[in-house]
Amino acid sequence: MNHDSISLTSARGTVRTLSQQEELPLLRDHLLRLDRTSRHDRFHGFIDDSFIRRYAERCANDGTVIIAYFEDGVVRGAAELHPPEQSPDAQPEIAFSVERSARRKGVGTTLFRKLIAEAHAKGYASLRITTGAQNDAMRALATKFGAQLTFRHGESTGSIDLTEQHQGEPAPAVAPVTPVEAARAIVDMNRAYWRMVMQMSGWGRAA
Ligand SMILES: CC(C)(COP(=O)(O)OP(=O)(O)OC[C@H]1O[C@@H](n2cnc3c(N)ncnc32)[C@H](O)[C@@H]1OP(=O)(O)O)[C@@H](O)C(=O)NCCC(=O)NCCS
Repeated sequence: MNHDSISLTSARGTVRTLSQQEELPLLRDHLLRLDRTSRHDRFHGFIDDSFIRRYAERCANDGTVIIAYFEDGVVRGAAELHPPEQSPDAQPEIAFSVERSARRKGVGTTLFRKLIAEAHAKGYASLRITTGAQNDAMRALATKFGAQLTFRHGESTGSIDLTEQHQGEPAPAVAPVTPVEAARAIVDMNRAYWRMVMQMSGWGRAA
C-alpha cells in the first residue's frame, strides 16, 4: 500500500489511498466531522448527515479514488478523484476536504499533488473542479495547480490540463481562453457537475 509521510509542510501525518469498500467509514466519518461552513463549501450547500452518508457510500461503490491524509489513524483530509463515467462529458471531477484543525499546513497541496499523480497514472488528460465563487482557499489551491477558474451564478469551475503538467507539480496558470470559449465551457461544466451531484445524492438517476 502506498503510504507517504507529508513533507515540506508543518503537518505531521501521512497520506495514502483508501481501499474502497473496507475503508468507507474512514471517509464518511471525516466528511461528517466537517463543520457546517466547510460542508457548505465542500458540497455546495448540501450539509445534512444523510446526504453525506449516501455520498460516501456512493464513492465506495463507483470507482472513486480517495487519497486520505491521516493523523493518528484518523482521516483529517481527503482528495476525491471521480471516474470519468460519472460525468456526461467524461471529464473526471475532483474535490477536496481538510478538517479545520489541519488547514493551512500544506495538506491540501499534498493531496492535490498526489491526486494529479494518480490521474496521470490513469491516463486522464484533464480534470474538473467546481467550488463556490467565495471559496478563497479552494480557489487558491486550484490556481496553484494551473486551474483556469471561471465564475457563474456563485460558482467557480475550472479545468486542469494534465498534459501541461509534470507529475503533480504545481503549474503556472495557462493563457486565458476567449470569452466565447469560456462561456461555452462554463455552461458545459456546470451542467455536467450538477448532474453528477444529483446522481451522487441519489436523485435524478435517469438524468
Ligand atoms: C480548500 C481546502 C481543501 C484547503 O486545504 P488546506 O490544507 O488548508 O490547503 P493548503 O494549506 O495546502 O493551502 C493551499 C493554498 O491555499 C491558500 N489558502 C488556504 N486557505 C486559504 C484561505 N482561507 N484564504 C486564502 N488562501 C488560502 C494557502 O495560502 C496555500 O497557498 P500557498 O501554498 O501559496 O501559501 C480547505 O480549506 C477545505 O477543506 N475547505 C472546506 C472544503 C472545501 O471548500 N472544499 C472545496 C470544494 S471542492
